[in-house]
Amino acid sequence: MNHFKWDSNQLVLLDQRKLPHEEIYFNCKTHTDVADAISKMIIRGAPAIGAAAAFGVVLGLQELAKKSNNATDPIKKDQIKNEMKQIEKTLKESRPTAVNLQWAVDRIINKLSKLELMSLEILVEEAEKEAVEIAKEDKQTNKAIGKNGQSLIDDNSTVLTHCNAGALATVDYGTALGVIRSAVEEGKNLSIIATETRPYLQGARLTAWELLKEKIPTTLITDNMVGYCMKKNMIDTVIVGADRIAKNGDVANKIGTYTLALLAHHHNIPFYVAAPISTFDLTLNNGSEIPIETRDDDEVTKINDLSIAPENVEVFNPSFDITPNKFVWGIITEKGVIKKPDKENIEKFFK
Ligand code: MRU
Repeated sequence: MNHFKWDSNQLVLLDQRKLPHEEIYFNCKTHTDVADAISKMIIRGAPAIGAAAAFGVVLGLQELAKKSNNATDPIKKDQIKNEMKQIEKTLKESRPTAVNLQWAVDRIINKLSKLELMSLEILVEEAEKEAVEIAKEDKQTNKAIGKNGQSLIDDNSTVLTHCNAGALATVDYGTALGVIRSAVEEGKNLSIIATETRPYLQGARLTAWELLKEKIPTTLITDNMVGYCMKKNMIDTVIVGADRIAKNGDVANKIGTYTLALLAHHHNIPFYVAAPISTFDLTLNNGSEIPIETRDDDEVTKINDLSIAPENVEVFNPSFDITPNKFVWGIITEKGVIKKPDKENIEKFFK
């Protein structure tokens, strides 16, 4: 998929707000363009916003290098450090829940900090190398997640997925949709049920679009139809992505995931989470410590700019929820599947 492209001094992103009807690209030429693209959902999905933020650091340093070249005196080391801190802060604050964003920015900043602040040109060069590597690794990681997860899906079965954890949510291939893609590549005959994912409709707009492009049979349902479909034995497996996983295995993912997990538990349907290791936040004891983003009221009161509610109604719009570890049958990572992900099993996995 051509939705994420680095072009030496700009990051070209498919504007996901316009899908599925228009394929329009947004060019990020500065680090604030990248932060805006992330906060406004031009790009979304944990691994994708991490990789975008990595290129945001590169663009920020390029801006600094230009400023220094145009100045009578080159920018001093202290000023470079301060400006880098500001770039880091702007990017990290663009969205709070997905830890991949902080992970990617920290990875570049840590690499640069080991370089003893050489010339800005070298900092730009090294940051770009690392960002390109992060993007390349993301594709490989998702392929490995797909391979590790595909055996958990039976031939001739129906898989339900929520939100969009596909190629669009990553640099390529996807996590939850990566597992589905890999199973299809193995020759399995699958049907997918995509939940529309209110309020932002990532399932209806993005997952349905992505899967149909590849001719993977997909049926769209509204979020409140899941219980009915499970009761009717229409769903064999649930696979979702994740934005942050605490060290006890509690999972933050798109709002509605917790409800799905509860329903899957009640109906004894396997519930899997597919996520790269960069989505684990081992500094957090459990899900209650994960920051949950609340987004604009308009996402709830409007659909495509059309108002669907009284103007003065109070709105609550948390973008993510926490699924307790006890409902998760396994977390599929690039290094293998963590079955029954609790504190002990996660500790063992990371040893
Ligand atoms: O608000 P979004 O669209 O960024 O939320 C995305 C999700 O919740 C995904 O499931 C998650 O980031 C995993 S993407 C591989």
